[in-house]
Amino acid sequence: MIRAVGLLGGGVIGGGWAARFLLNGVDVRLYDPAPDAPRKLDEILANARRAYGRLTLAPLPAEGALAFASTPEEAAEDVDFVQESAPERVDLKRDLLAAASRAARPDAVFASSTSGLRPTLLQSAMTGPERLTVGHPFNPVYLLPLVELCGGEQTAPETLDRAAAIYEHVGMKPLRLGVEIDGFVADRLLEALWREALWLVNDGVATVDEIDDAILYGPGLRWSIMGTFLTYRIAGGEDGVRHFMEQFGPALQWPWTKLTDVPELTEGLLDTLERQSDAQAAGRSVRELERLRDDCLVSVLQALRVHDVGAGATLRSYESSLLGRSPTLSAHDAELRLYETRVEPDWIDYNGHANETAYLRVASRATDALLAYLGTDDGYLRTTGSYYTVETHIRHLGEALAEQRLAVTTQILGVDEKRLHLFHRVIRDEEVLATVEQMLLHVDVTSGRAGPARPDVLARVERLASAHASLPPPDGVGRRIEIGGRRRP
Ligand SMILES: NC(=O)c1ccc[n+]([C@@H]2O[C@H](COP(=O)([O-])OP(=O)(O)OC[C@H]3O[C@@H](n4cnc5c(N)ncnc54)[C@H](O)[C@@H]3O)[C@@H](O)[C@H]2O)c1
Repeated sequence: MIRAVGLLGGGVIGGGWAARFLLNGVDVRLYDPAPDAPRKLDEILANARRAYGRLTLAPLPAEGALAFASTPEEAAEDVDFVQESAPERVDLKRDLLAAASRAARPDAVFASSTSGLRPTLLQSAMTGPERLTVGHPFNPVYLLPLVELCGGEQTAPETLDRAAAIYEHVGMKPLRLGVEIDGFVADRLLEALWREALWLVNDGVATVDEIDDAILYGPGLRWSIMGTFLTYRIAGGEDGVRHFMEQFGPALQWPWTKLTDVPELTEGLLDTLERQSDAQAAGRSVRELERLRDDCLVSVLQALRVHDVGAGATLRSYESSLLGRSPTLSAHDAELRLYETRVEPDWIDYNGHANETAYLRVASRATDALLAYLGTDDGYLRTTGSYYTVETHIRHLGEALAEQRLAVTTQILGVDEKRLHLFHRVIRDEEVLATVEQMLLHVDVTSGRAGPARPDVLARVERLASAHASLPPPDGVGRRIEIGGRRRP
């Protein structure tokens, strides 16, 4: 659907976009004039890979290829989509988008990550200004699904449709605004909160730590589930929102808050913010804090997925679309290579190489990818059944080191209507590091017992098995564990 994107700017947000696209199998061409951009991007990518590896067990495509461009034109040439994430300055963004738009294909869609600038201001110098929308994301872009879409005076409606489809394809939740407005929706809400928080520090009412506690022990927990309005609907009890407004509406007139006044950002206030925020970080680096944030976000997203709520519902539908995206069987059936990954640092044991559990993890992802390839998509899992692994035999033949890329090739050894016998090779370059032999049993979703796979899935497995029948039997298949040919009685 989308093959390559051009990114303009590779800082906090551009780096997050690069990670989201690459991890969804999309090639990325990135332009950023800063000499340390590649280093920063590497660090963001390492954290993003770690987070994505924990986020979903659905089969992700092989990672896209990353290339650095030396001009904005080079980044935009022959890509399907361009996302601009340069510093928040109208003149800079306008010139950058204009230069890139001259080099891009006429059908390429453009989006700006701006936090609040109106797209009408940004599109004015573009060739094909109707191709630009705001695509305002949230940090970390690779985990948070929200992206606000806002068109300018010249934006064509189909630009919004196409951008929304691209964002959905990479697991996001596009929120289309019907009105062009400074700051869009989410940043207007966040700015109000932030302004108030600054006043509380400025007036010596609370420290940054106390303000953060006031969010994270209470309203912050609710927000990801029910936002503001549904939360207040419940707070109104059985009489609903009208009762809630009768009770608390008058307080808005008192008022408790500073409304739109902004505290002067004096050196004194900045010093206080810096000192107190550094104390909160307690010596942890930004990357460490990002990992903590990402781990917690993944857990929250997974919990919300169980209840099919908010961002969890987006994750669920993304996973079901990943399952439905498996390629159709092709002439390459004999070389099934459906899963690639990278050795994560936390798979490494005290010997400096991947622990044996890593191979089971990799094999189980490869099995999931195979099942998706065979057509056991989300609908199948809900209505028909699923293959369960009933036996696994792993042989460890080589060592994998952190960050090395692994691929898995899969050979089908046998099939009947309920069983599937398969053999994975975990390879690095051409070297086989492990083999994983598995027996899978098809289990019926309603009875919970072994039952036949659906005829179309079975037909695909059988075709694959007959294509693989001509391959030589794999080395080590059916091997048993013994010493000197003697088995214990
Ligand atoms: N940080 C956030 O939480 C956040 C959230 C949503 C949107 N945004 C928006 O994303 C955009 C980028 O913000 P950021 O936080 O990533 O800033 P950043 O400072 O981390 O990154 C900006 C990057 O742009 C690069 N750059 C400078 N001049 C450039 C040019 N001419 N062409 C291309 N790249 C150039 C810089 O080298 C830097 O790497 C802004 O528009 C911002 O409003 C930020």
